Amino acid sequence: MLNARKQTGRSGEGDATSVAPSSRQQAADGTATPAAPGTRQTFITIEGLSKSFGREVVYRDFTLSLPEGKMISVFGPNGCGKSTLINLISGLMPIDAGRVLYDGKTIAQTRISYVFQNYREALFPWFRSIDNIRYPLKIMGLKRREQDARIEELLADFEINIDLNAYPYQLSGGQQQTVSILRALVTDPEVLFLDEPFSALDYEMTLSMREQLQKIFLKTGTTMLLVSHDLEEAVQLADKVLLLTRRPTRVAEIVDIDLAWPRGTEAVTDPRFVDLKSHCLKVFQREAAVR
Ligand SMILES: Nc1ncnc2c1ncn2[C@@H]1O[C@H](COP(=O)(O)OP(=O)(O)OP(=O)(O)O)[C@@H](O)[C@H]1O
Ligand SMILES: [Mg+2]
Repeated sequence: MLNARKQTGRSGEGDATSVAPSSRQQAADGTATPAAPGTRQTFITIEGLSKSFGREVVYRDFTLSLPEGKMISVFGPNGCGKSTLINLISGLMPIDAGRVLYDGKTIAQTRISYVFQNYREALFPWFRSIDNIRYPLKIMGLKRREQDARIEELLADFEINIDLNAYPYQLSGGQQQTVSILRALVTDPEVLFLDEPFSALDYEMTLSMREQLQKIFLKTGTTMLLVSHDLEEAVQLADKVLLLTRRPTRVAEIVDIDLAWPRGTEAVTDPRFVDLKSHCLKVFQREAAVR
């Protein structure tokens, strides 16, 4: 089994059937239903976060709580600090002030993984795909036998139609990004950060990767933070859309996406989907408007 959260994750998930929205959703009237056992409504706590680049203030006293086991997409105006936010909370970038805790633990005490936009630069070209996936386990000091067992376990969870003995250059963009995602998952992260992971892919590949990511999410229940510049994608792939303002950046709104999973390409024409997307668009237009 890939990780323990699967047991408390989404029932019947991973198969082709539609599942009801999580019972942990916040209702439209603002009342939240109790968390399923083993999940935390407040998992990532960001308190008083500040970050400036020179005189440019991106975040000033920014506070936010995010739940466990949810897919959260981050959407906002260009340059508002979406990448900076996930870089700060994943520990890739130092913060000026404030703190980020994962269920009370620091980032150093939490297993996280990151999937970058540019898969071409993210994979080691001299390693076969399988050895790219293996790499984090090597760094963790696992013995070869343990590495093999872990990879076997990971691959058993997914239908991967990729020749993992191929080098990255022999794979399509979508296949390379799938390898990157598998590499990110092999350490069984508590949180997976993805910064515009599909934006370098063509549209057809993007659609199939959106489905692939949902399968992974439904199987693992891993908390995911996904930056997207595509509102349709942000809504399709989220339990919650975190809408940000212009700099200095605040939370404009957190929109609960109470739609059933998985959400195929047909889901985006569902009237409820269209309503939610247009609500997000209104908030975005209000926040992006030049003042
Ligand atoms: N390492 C850095 N050095 C200096 N300025 C930076 C750095 N990283 C980000 N910035 C600035 O911080 C602001 C937020 O950048 P960030 O890349 O987080 O925005 P974004 O919302 O991800 O933008 P985009 O929609 O273009 O991806 C921008 O003004 C950017 O120029
Ligand atoms: Mg960015």
